[in-house]
Amino acid sequence: MKLLWKVLCTLLLLIQAVLGNWWNLAAVRQQSPHGNTSLDTVMPLHKDNCHRLEYLVERQKQLCLLSDKMIQVLQTGALQAVEECQHQFRHSRWNCSTSIAENSTDIFGGVLKFKSRESAFVHALSAAALAHTVARACSRGELNECSCDARVRKRTPRHWQWGGCSEDIRYGEMFSRDFIDSKEDKNTNEGLINLHNHEAGRRAVRGRMQRVCKCHGMSGSCSVRVCWRRLPQLRLVGDALITRYEGASHVKIVERKRGKNIRKLRPLHSDMKKPNKTDLVYLDDSPDYCEPNEELGILGTSGRTCNRTSAGLDGCRLLCCGRGYQTRVRDHEEKCNCRFVWCCKVHCEVCRYKKDHHVCN
Ligand SMILES: *[C@@H]1O[C@H](CO)[C@@H](O)[C@H](O)[C@H]1NC(C)=O
Ligand SMILES: *[C@@H]1O[C@H](CO)[C@@H](O)[C@H](O)[C@H]1NC(C)=O
Ligand SMILES: *[C@@H]1O[C@H](CO)[C@@H](O)[C@H](O)[C@H]1NC(C)=O
Ligand SMILES: *[C@@H]1O[C@H](CO)[C@@H](O)[C@H](O)[C@H]1NC(C)=O
Ligand SMILES: *[C@@H]1O[C@H](CO)[C@@H](O)[C@H](O)[C@H]1NC(C)=O
Repeated sequence: MKLLWKVLCTLLLLIQAVLGNWWNLAAVRQQSPHGNTSLDTVMPLHKDNCHRLEYLVERQKQLCLLSDKMIQVLQTGALQAVEECQHQFRHSRWNCSTSIAENSTDIFGGVLKFKSRESAFVHALSAAALAHTVARACSRGELNECSCDARVRKRTPRHWQWGGCSEDIRYGEMFSRDFIDSKEDKNTNEGLINLHNHEAGRRAVRGRMQRVCKCHGMSGSCSVRVCWRRLPQLRLVGDALITRYEGASHVKIVERKRGKNIRKLRPLHSDMKKPNKTDLVYLDDSPDYCEPNEELGILGTSGRTCNRTSAGLDGCRLLCCGRGYQTRVRDHEEKCNCRFVWCCKVHCEVCRYKKDHHVCN
């Protein structure tokens, strides 16, 4: 088992350098021996690996070395970003598939070479996921340089008091900025776009921080209410970002020469709204993702399961790109006739039935 991990580890480290693609850290899971894609099966990397991850830029390697557990936090962040992306795109032609093909420099293949909506989403989500995972790790006491957010306590509310552990999203954001933004060059179009989307992602987390409270006092009198700030579930952030993805702004970059070069994002068409800091922005139209393209790591939609009655993206008409589909009858198993057995078990039977299954040509 140990040897196996070693081999997989080497595979991972060999992913060629396209600097800054830190989400390649999620590739460890792709190589899980049983094809098991649960987060529990992640091979935890050791701090020593920080130096050897070719796809990290120098600053990222330094940050990776900050705490013993930082590399694992980074790994978790990358995995959660990939999982959330795959959830959000499960019904789309591009399903956020990842792989570590030979010579690949990025687990998403070349899809992100276009500065498309999909690329905007992945960049925003990955910045958000990193801020989220780091802040969570802080509150769990897993990192040396942060813990709970003590600053919130400076504001003193009237009807309740701060207590418990407020999760430090400020630190999470600061780290995410330092780590992820460090590979971007704001003097390039790509860099400017990525930086904007990273920030939009982090704001999607910050704007969804929740206040939770607990009552103390004699038998539910709630004479003392103690509250703290909690991170939203990453799913909420993913949901918010997919909405931004759908309404993303197609922009161009304009340069003003006033002494210094000032480069700004402007809507491609003048009748479109100017993007604000929470909007996602993109430069390129997306490919249609219908047919496989090995170079770009696009799998195409052939073989995908579609929904015959849906008029949406997951419907056979759109998902199969007009190529049609085949219907297969599949055996389906489901728990059924469940009953409660005193005390405290639920007994179910397994029901088998046939179910139509539609697959794109
Ligand atoms: C995947 O891993 C989880 C947790 O370790 C385990 O419960 C599950 O049975 C595994 N599934 C397979 C198919 O190996
Ligand atoms: C990977 O790169 C090597 C050397 O650059 C080349 O010989 C090989 O054909 C490439 N493999 C693929 C699948 O492109
Ligand atoms: C930014 O624009 C979106 C619509 O694209 C809007 O829903 C949102 O409220 C705006 N945010 C701010 C801070 O103005
Ligand atoms: C994405 O779709 C491909 C078929 O195009 C399929 O093989 C793959 O398992 C899907 N990936 C995910 C994460 O759903
Ligand atoms: C298929 O689409 C219909 C209509 O949108 C929906 O009601 C149904 O739940 C979908 N079926 C599956 C299996 O997702």
